[in-house]
Amino acid sequence: MCGIVGFVGHEEAAPILLEGLSRLEYRGYDSAGIAVYGQEDGLQVYKAKGRLKALCDLVDNGAAVHGTVGLGHTRWATHGQPSDLNSHPHVSQSGRIAVVHNGIIENYLTLRQRLQARGIHFVSETDTEVVAQLVDYYYKDDIMDAVVKALSQVEGSYALGILCIDCPDQIIAARKDGPLVLGYGDGCNFLASDVTAVIEHTRDVSYMEDGEIAVLTADSIKVYDSLLNPVEKEHFTVDWEISAAEKGGYEHFMIKEIMEQPDALRKCLFPRIKNHKVVLEDLSLDEEYIRSLHKIDIVACGSSYHVGMVSKYFLESLLRIPVEVSLASEFRYCDPIVDEHTLVIVISQSGETADTLAALRQAKKLGARTLGVVNVVGSSIAKECDDVLYTWAGPEIAVATTKAYSTQLGVLYLLGLHFADVLGRLSPDRYDTLVRQLLLLPSCLEQVLEQKENIQYLAFHYFNHESIFFIGRNIDYAMGLEGSLKLKEISYIHSEAYAAGELKHGTISLIEPGTLVVALATYGKLFDKTMSNIVEVKSRGADIIALTTEEHTAAMESQASGIILVPELDPMFMPSLAVVPLQLFAYYVALNRGCDIDKPRNLAKSVTVE
Ligand code: AGP
Repeated sequence: MCGIVGFVGHEEAAPILLEGLSRLEYRGYDSAGIAVYGQEDGLQVYKAKGRLKALCDLVDNGAAVHGTVGLGHTRWATHGQPSDLNSHPHVSQSGRIAVVHNGIIENYLTLRQRLQARGIHFVSETDTEVVAQLVDYYYKDDIMDAVVKALSQVEGSYALGILCIDCPDQIIAARKDGPLVLGYGDGCNFLASDVTAVIEHTRDVSYMEDGEIAVLTADSIKVYDSLLNPVEKEHFTVDWEISAAEKGGYEHFMIKEIMEQPDALRKCLFPRIKNHKVVLEDLSLDEEYIRSLHKIDIVACGSSYHVGMVSKYFLESLLRIPVEVSLASEFRYCDPIVDEHTLVIVISQSGETADTLAALRQAKKLGARTLGVVNVVGSSIAKECDDVLYTWAGPEIAVATTKAYSTQLGVLYLLGLHFADVLGRLSPDRYDTLVRQLLLLPSCLEQVLEQKENIQYLAFHYFNHESIFFIGRNIDYAMGLEGSLKLKEISYIHSEAYAAGELKHGTISLIEPGTLVVALATYGKLFDKTMSNIVEVKSRGADIIALTTEEHTAAMESQASGIILVPELDPMFMPSLAVVPLQLFAYYVALNRGCDIDKPRNLAKSVTVE
């Protein structure tokens, strides 16, 4: 939700912090701030409401701030509206302690009242200020002791960066349910919410675990557990290039990431298919366990949940095992029925989504086996699942997910085929056909992307509509959920995705002359049924954009004002192809409406609060 960056070294900290924040801005972008300590200038804190640019202007891109130790923060407001005052870093009343925070301090009101009763005056509405005041309250002459005491009082989630003016050569980091990466540089060290903020400077990183506290100086990073016992950290080398986290000539990250999908899928799929067989080396589930499965639960949020919705259709059809798909925010509170014969698959791009993480923990507590489908390496969900299959999509920066969706689906295809193989559910011929088609997906996606101009034209024609419906049946319906979400989140157009057969039970009353209906009709078996529903809305005045396969072009021409064609593969693979025109449509509609595509209002990339 928020982005944190920290630097300690021998160079000016401010430009490094600002550059790090620019890479983390996708995590929250309603205000930003930095705190830098300099030998001559002491603690300097600058904060500005609005995009990072406002802060950069305020500090002359860092040139106005001097010091070699500092913290930076980019905010997605939870407690207190976006304002200069509520922006981080927060400084304690005495001016000795500065804090940046990602997460929520759930008992902040109680703590605040207790501190106020002791004469401490608060200046912001945030939960974070409590941490700064509390550390200061406990601080006598040992900052680590004060941090440990303060954290023992705090309930909730946090990734924290702490700077104390009495120890000006160090920053302290602490983590509970919020990501924090430590970056090991040469004569300098880094702290960040995400590796994207440090790889310009170092590829040598480690990931903090819950309960750990780290002390960073220019020459060392020392990590301790919550009782201050030293912890030996495993180091990882980041193996992707910084260009992966840059726009590379595209106007927005979203369009870049849409265009990257064929390659992302290749990286996700190809290494896991050997001699025309799916080989999931990173999976420890043995065949006996797979055969003992009674149920699969898929738990996720947003687009990742939509991947689950699509997967339900093909997994049930392939495996003949019941698959339930739940929103993580519901699953965690609905007393789910799971046991050791249930595989709970949690899907998450960021690996940090608070609801998904909580659902995962609950599933584990109830005895289920858990498998994560995750993009961000070393993230909490990846670490806590019994097994993890990475999507290998590379960094995804745009808030609206595209390549993560596609690669999550890719992993679910692999998993489905692997399980079907173990369970003996597919004839050798059918298995072979499906594996061959899976290998074709990336090049088919390239063909779909070639229709960019057609989709751009349709978007130009319809961008002024105030309400857009997506209809389809079966797997097309599940895919429409994602098309509708993409459109809503970046263009702010009201949109609904409906099972086409369900329209007549209520929603068709919303159709009036000129309403745009995007009809998804790639599922051949039910084409005629979907067609009837298309005719129903058309006869009530709807304008139709149809997404279908070449075989059905003629039938569609009489009904639709616009047709988008996708190559035909087995039905289970069609959502993978068909979702891409919907991503492009949402993108171009938002572009025509002048929306802030990569950073849509009220949203953030990684949702680490409940
Ligand atoms: C989709 O475009 C989203 N921005 C959002 O729905 C996202 O998929 C959801 O918040 C889940 O995130 P995760 O995959 O990182 O868990």
